Amino acid sequence: MKVLVLNGPNLGRLGTREPSVYGSTTHADLVSMCEQAGVELGVEVEVRQTDHEGEMVGWLHEAADACWPVVLNAGAWTHYSVAVRDAAAQLRAELIELHISNVHKREAFRHTSFLSDISTAVICGLGVAGYPLAIRWVAENAGR
Ligand code: DQA
Repeated sequence: MKVLVLNGPNLGRLGTREPSVYGSTTHADLVSMCEQAGVELGVEVEVRQTDHEGEMVGWLHEAADACWPVVLNAGAWTHYSVAVRDAAAQLRAELIELHISNVHKREAFRHTSFLSDISTAVICGLGVAGYPLAIRWVAENAGR
């Protein structure tokens, strides 16, 4: 099984971006953490990050066609992008919506998600530790 981990805008700047909110782990560290979780669980994990909405839409189409489960941190797109939602709605395997921060403790505009009602589950507020947890759940439950 392959698990695709997709990170949206500004997440490539993890480590330097608002560390009091997102922590000091870099995106490169996050990629290593996710790949390590995949090795331990015996699943292939691929992590991608983009600041371009069309590229994210294309990756979601690819996952839909391949029937891959997706762990998606859509960043700010979560809160307003109908295009990302419409692409995610085409997925045929599990979709986990993930946020590093607890969006519900933050500004009101972050309380709206265009993804939660089409997701299998939502993880938020566990920091980057949410990623290996999401990968573990998918590895143990996807396709059953
Ligand atoms: C985020 C939360 C979003 O509100 C924000 O726009 C992000 C990151 C998170 O991981 O906590 O870019 O998705």
